Order: sequence, then C-alpha cells, then structure tokens
Amino acid sequence: MAEYSDIVMEHFLNPRNVGEIKDADGIGEVGNPLCGDMMTFYIRVDGSRLSDIKYKTFGCGAAIAVSSIVSEMALGKTLEAAVRITREDVAQRLGGLPREKMHCSNLGAEALRRAIRNYLDGRDGMDDSLSRQTATTTPERSFEYSLTDEAILSELILKKKRERDAVILVHNYQRPEIQDIGDFVGDSLGLALKASETEATVIVFCGVHFMAETAAILNPDRIVLLPEIRAGCPMADMAPVDDVIRVKKQHPNATVVSYVNTTAAVKAESDYCCTSSNAVGVCRDIDADEILFLPDRNLAAYVAGHLPDKKIIPWDGFCHVHQGISADDVREALANHPGAEVISLPECTREVISLADHVTSTSGMISTALESNAGEFIIATEAGMVYPLTCGAPGKSFYSTANEPLCPNMKLITLPKVLRAPETLEPRVVVPEDIRARALLPVERMLRL
Ligand code: 13P
Ligand code: SF4
Repeated sequence: MAEYSDIVMEHFLNPRNVGEIKDADGIGEVGNPLCGDMMTFYIRVDGSRLSDIKYKTFGCGAAIAVSSIVSEMALGKTLEAAVRITREDVAQRLGGLPREKMHCSNLGAEALRRAIRNYLDGRDGMDDSLSRQTATTTPERSFEYSLTDEAILSELILKKKRERDAVILVHNYQRPEIQDIGDFVGDSLGLALKASETEATVIVFCGVHFMAETAAILNPDRIVLLPEIRAGCPMADMAPVDDVIRVKKQHPNATVVSYVNTTAAVKAESDYCCTSSNAVGVCRDIDADEILFLPDRNLAAYVAGHLPDKKIIPWDGFCHVHQGISADDVREALANHPGAEVISLPECTREVISLADHVTSTSGMISTALESNAGEFIIATEAGMVYPLTCGAPGKSFYSTANEPLCPNMKLITLPKVLRAPETLEPRVVVPEDIRARALLPVERMLRL
C-alpha cells in the first residue's frame, strides 16, 4: 500500500468542503478510467474571488485528500491565483504523495482549472444582464478527455515499451507526466550510468540531443531514440567542433575537459568529460596544471574557484536558462520564504552561487534536501526540478526563483511523441563510428569516477 503522510491521512479521514453547489457558477469534472478516480468541482464566484467551493470525489485516499486540500487552497483566492495552483503545489501541501499517486494531484488541480474555465466561458461575450442571469443558471457541463488521454497514452507507452524491450530514461527537467513513465529519472551523470548498464534493446531517451548521443556512444549495438529530434542544447551548440580544434591548437599543453553538454564530435576532441555533479572532482584528479574547460564559463569559474592551483581556461559558453537567473530573482524568492535554504546548480552565475547554501547537480539537490534540516528550499535551476524534488523529498517544500526559468528544449518531449518513438523506432540518434570510438574514452573516464 502507498505510504501517505499524516496530512493526507487527516484530509482523507476528515475531508473539507465535501458536497455540491446548486446553481454553481462553474463546474469542472475530470476522470481517469484506468484508476477509476472521478472529481467534480463546483465553484461560486463573488467579484473576482472564489467565495465557495465544493466537490464530489470517487476514488482512492489520495484523490479524496487532494480534493479536500485543493478546495482549502482555492477558497477565498482570486480566480487568477486559483487557476495557477499546480500539481506540485497540491502535493507539497499534502506533505508529498507517492510517485504512483502523483497523478491525483494533477487531477485535483485540473478539476479546479476546468471549473474556473467553465465559469469564464459562461461569462465571455455576455452583457451584464446576461452575466447576472448566469449566476442563477447552472452552466452546461462538459466532460473533457485530455487527462483521460494522458492516462491512456501512458498505458500505451508502457505496453509498447514491453513489446520493444525498451527502457525509458528521463532527465529531471522533463514534464511531470514524462517523468511518471520513466524507468529511471535522474541527472546527466545518472542517466549516462544507466545507459551504460542497460541490457534493453531500445533506449527511449527523454532529454536533449547530447544526452541521447552519450547513450549512443556507450551503446553502439542498441537503438537510441530521442522522441523529439529538435530537442537540442543551445549551450552545447556554443562550442562547434571546428572552433574547439582551433582553440586547442592555441593551448597545446592544455588537457581538454568537456562538460557532458557537448556534441559527440566535441567529446571526440576531449580528454575527459564531466557533469555538474563531478566537474570539480574530475579536474582535481587529472594530472594536468592547465585545463581547457568547455563549453560552460560559469561551471569553469566554479571549478577554478575550487582548484586555485590549476589554470582553468574557460570557453565562453553558457546555459541561457541558468544565466537568466539573477541574484534579485533569488532574493525575491527568499523574501517570500525567509527560512528557506538556497540550492543552486553550478551553471548559475557567480552572484547567484554566492547566495546559495548548497551547490550541486539536479539529482544532488534531492539528496541535499533529504539530508538538510531545513523544510523549505529555493531552487536555482530549471523550474521543472520542483516536481522530482517533491516526489523525492516528501514533506519538504520547494520554490523556483522569481523568474521561474524553463528550458524550452527539455519541454519539447510530450507523451504522444514518446509513444510514436518505440512504435516507429524513430527518430534515432546515431553517432558515426569514427567519432564514437574517440568519444568513448572521455565518457568512460567520467563514469569511472
Ligand atoms: P545535470 O543533469 O547534470 O544536473 O545538469 C542539468 C542540466 O542543465 C542538464 O542540461
Ligand atoms: Fe542546455 Fe541549459 Fe537546457 Fe540544460 S537547461 S539542456 S544546459 S539549455
């Protein structure tokens, strides 16, 4: 049986706001035919605020607790604030949900959104007298199937995965519904390790191109699929291989260390690879005084700060997602959550890192949160990281920085695309053998550490 927090149990045993509002201003209904959960939310709107909210829910303990907490969270809020309640907010307020029950938090947030949309649809285009009429007329109910599709698509993917003898590897920044179908969810290093260990015939890689290439470098005999071939990494593209060859010539005595966020061709020109979790360790252990570090100038600066005896020559690349997080974005989040600790990725700027209590990779953030005595954390990285943190460290709360940074490339992968990949065995990521053979050593060196 799923392990529930005390808060879930309390809401399950004593659910708030149960019932129906006759002549509601908005009704939102969702259902998941696979697990049988059904939720109907009724709202009353006064001005721009939710003045009353009730629901009828049929389903498991998580579904009932979710409905109860959503009704509490939304009651009295403005429509604008209520519509922004996310599955992560709901799960966090419940002290976390087991991953297999996280879809319930999505159902609750979606049922509320639909009730609000139903109210707004009824109001749009009406003159004042008609909108007054609406207040006493039950809006038309429409059962929508998008969530049902999500559940069915997930089932179809898992079925197709078994037929193809496939494994699904998912990066921490992927959409929640993609993480939910993953065999393994993790950071770049963890995913490369899993790719090196797998015995599956097909690897469905839900991440960006360089990650799938790394899996292909390690697995020449397996089929590696990237469900959206345009999912690239702009930072990796900032180090074209011809420029790398040219700069290497300018520093003939330097050892080349490439962040794993590079193309296979650049890895083939490198002596070592590293990820955000082991960059300092890799550079420390190398028997070299001069290191050409590419492509991330921020990670290079972080490494240089830890290894003052080594000469680190930085490439002038950066991740636009992490570069876009300013110190003020962190301070603003801290002002809203004054007791929170700050965890930053080393790809952030020096100013942001100077505000951090911890600096680590994305998966390192989960272990850091679990080990810390703090209950609240500001996460200086891609905002999607809140979801794996909520699943991995239940009972703790995670907040994005004020700018809510998103990596558009990571979000290109969707459930329909993931289903199509094992069905068609496309789009494949293939690394030419001459490049693969040269790129293998630096990647293996990274994994050995
Ligand atoms: P990690 O996966 O190493 O945590 O880095 C985050 C990142 O930016 C990947 O693109
Ligand atoms: Fe590249 Fe940054 Fe997106 Fe990671 S988050 S894939 S480094 S652009």
